[in-house]
Amino acid sequence: MWNTLVRTVALLAPKDRRRGAHLLVLVVLMAMSETFGIAMLLPFFMVLSRPQMIEIQPAISAIYHGLGFTDHHSFLLVFGLVAFAVVVLAAVIRIATTFMMNLFAQKSGHRMAERLLETYLRQPYVFFLQRHSSELTKKITADSQMLVSYVVQPGMYVIAYTLVVITMTGVMLALDPFVALSVGGVIGGMYVLIFRASKRMLARIGQELDVANNQRFSSIEVAIGGIKDIKLMGREDVYLDQFRPASLRAARHQAISAALAESPRYLIEAVAIGGALTLALLLLATGRGTALVLPGLSVYALAGYKLIPSAQRVFSGLSNLQVGDSVLNAIRDDFAQTVPPQPRSTTLVEAMQPAREIVLRDVGFSYPNMRKTAIEGITLSIGVGTSVGLIGGTGAGKTTLVDIILGLLRPSEGAIIVDGVPIDESNLQSWQQALGYVPQSIFLADTTVAENIALGVRKDSIDMAKVEECARMAQIHDFVLSDMSDAYETRVGERGVRLSGGQRQRIGIARALYRDPSVLVLDEATSALDTLTEKAVMESVQALSHQKTIIMIAHRLTTVRPCDTIFMLDKGRLVEQGSYDELLATSRKFKAMV
Ligand SMILES: Nc1ncnc2c1ncn2[C@@H]1O[C@H](COP(=O)(O)OP(=O)(O)OP(=O)(O)O)[C@@H](O)[C@H]1O
Ligand SMILES: [Mg+2]
Repeated sequence: MWNTLVRTVALLAPKDRRRGAHLLVLVVLMAMSETFGIAMLLPFFMVLSRPQMIEIQPAISAIYHGLGFTDHHSFLLVFGLVAFAVVVLAAVIRIATTFMMNLFAQKSGHRMAERLLETYLRQPYVFFLQRHSSELTKKITADSQMLVSYVVQPGMYVIAYTLVVITMTGVMLALDPFVALSVGGVIGGMYVLIFRASKRMLARIGQELDVANNQRFSSIEVAIGGIKDIKLMGREDVYLDQFRPASLRAARHQAISAALAESPRYLIEAVAIGGALTLALLLLATGRGTALVLPGLSVYALAGYKLIPSAQRVFSGLSNLQVGDSVLNAIRDDFAQTVPPQPRSTTLVEAMQPAREIVLRDVGFSYPNMRKTAIEGITLSIGVGTSVGLIGGTGAGKTTLVDIILGLLRPSEGAIIVDGVPIDESNLQSWQQALGYVPQSIFLADTTVAENIALGVRKDSIDMAKVEECARMAQIHDFVLSDMSDAYETRVGERGVRLSGGQRQRIGIARALYRDPSVLVLDEATSALDTLTEKAVMESVQALSHQKTIIMIAHRLTTVRPCDTIFMLDKGRLVEQGSYDELLATSRKFKAMV
C-alpha cells in the first residue's frame, strides 16, 4: 500500500504534489483537533463520576485552583462548555479538510485527464496506428475518474485517518493502558486479518474491472461507429450481447469491492459491543468498583465513537487502493511508454518554400508489428512546380509513401530532402506548414461548412472570401449556395453524415487549398466524383500547377494523364516512371493498366 501511495505521488503533476503537501498540513491539524476535542471529554466524565479527582489529579487541580473556582458544579459547567467548543471547532476543521481533500482529488483527476490527452495528441502518428481510440478514450475519461475514486481519494483518507488512529491510541494509552491495549489489539488485529484475507481478491477485482471497462468502451465504439453496416445486417444484438456482460461484470466488481471495504465495520461493531460488556464485567471483577469502572468504560466508548470509524476509513481506503492499483499501473505504463509531450513552439513556424526539388533518397518503411516492408528502396525526384501522379495496385504502398512525404511517418531508411536539406525533427514543422493534404477518407467535424474548410482556425478569424475562393476551385461553391439551407453556415453533421461522398471530398479539397500550400498532396481525392466534376476540379487544380507542386494518387489513369511525371509502384517498390505518353510507349505494365 505504501508502494501504491509512492507511485501515485510520482504520477501526480508537480503542481498537484505541492498542493497535496499543503493539504497534509490541514490533515494533521484535523487529526489533532479531533483527538483533542475527544480528549477533553474524558477528564470531564472522570470529574463527573468522581468529584474528588479535582483534588487528586494534579493537572485538573492546577486548573481548578488557578482559575479560582470555588465549587465543583460551576467548574464542571465551564469544563463541559469548553470541551463542547473544542468539539465544534474540530467539526468545522473536519468539514473544511474534507472539502479540500475532495477538491484536490477531483482536480488531480481533471489534470490527469488533461495530461493524458495532451500526451496522446503529441505522440507521433504511428502511435495511433497501434492503439484503439476507444482505449484512449477510456483512459482519459473512465480511468482518470477511477484514479480519483480508487487511488487519490482513498489514499488521502488513509493518511488522514491513520493519523487520527495514532493520536487517538496515544490518548487512550495515556488514560488507561490496559483498556487501550486490549481494544487496540483486538480491533487492529481483526482489520489486519480481514485485509490480508481480501487483499488478493481486491487486486483481482481491480484487474478485471479494467478489462471489463475496456470491453465496454470498445463494444460501444464499434456498434455506434459501424451503425450503418450493423443496422443493415441486423446485428444490434451482437453488440448488446458484447456490452451487457462486460458492463454487468464491471457493476458487480464495483459492488463487491465496495461491500468488502465497508462490511468489516459491522462485524467489528458487534465485537466491540460484546467487548464493552466483557470489559465492564472484567473491570468490576478486578474490584475497582463502579466509580472506577466508568472512566475505563468511557475510554472504551471513545474507542467505539472515534477509533473504530477512523480505523474503518483506513481499512476501506486500503481496500480501494488495492482495487485501484491496476488502473494506476495502466496509466503509469502509458506515461512510461509514450514520448513525453514536447510542447510545439508557440510562435508560428514559417512555412518552408521549396524552390528546386523534393527528393526521396532510398526511402524504406515498415509498419510496427508487420514483417513485410510496406515500401522499400524508393528514390525519386519531384521538381518544384511540377505535378506528379502516383499509381499502382491496391496495397502497393502509395498512401504509405505519401504519409512519409507528409512527415506523418518517419522513414525507417533513407530520407526526404528538400532543396538539399534533409527533413528531420528540427525542420519538420516548417515542412508540414508548406503542405496541403486531401486524404483518402475525409474527416469532417460536426460544424459549419466554413469551419470545415478552414479546419482548426478560430471561427472569428476565418477569411470568408478565401473560403469561397477555395470552394469554387473545388467545385463545391455552387452546391453550397444553392442546396444548403444556411450556405457556408450549414452544419454538416457528425463526420459529415449529411453530405454525399463526393461533396465531402470536395470540402476536403477546399480545406487543403485554404492553407494555400506550396505542395498539394491528393490521395484518391477525386475518386468519389463523377468524371465531369473530377475534370473540372482537376482543371482548377492543374491551373494552380507551375505555382504549386502537386502530388496525386489515383486509380483512374485519366486523372493522372496531365501530370508531368507518373511514378508507378508495385509491392512497395518504384517500378516505372515517365510521362503518360512515355509510359504508354515503353512500359508493358503501364499498358496493361490502361
Ligand atoms: N497501419 C498499418 N499497419 C500495418 N500495415 C499497414 C498499415 N497501413 C498499411 N499497411 C500495409 O502497407 C501496405 C501498403 O499500404 P498502403 O495503404 O500504402 O497501400 P495503397 O497503395 O495506398 O493502397 P490503396 O490503393 O488500396 O489505398 C499494405 O500491404 C498494407 O497492408
Ligand atoms: Mg491508399
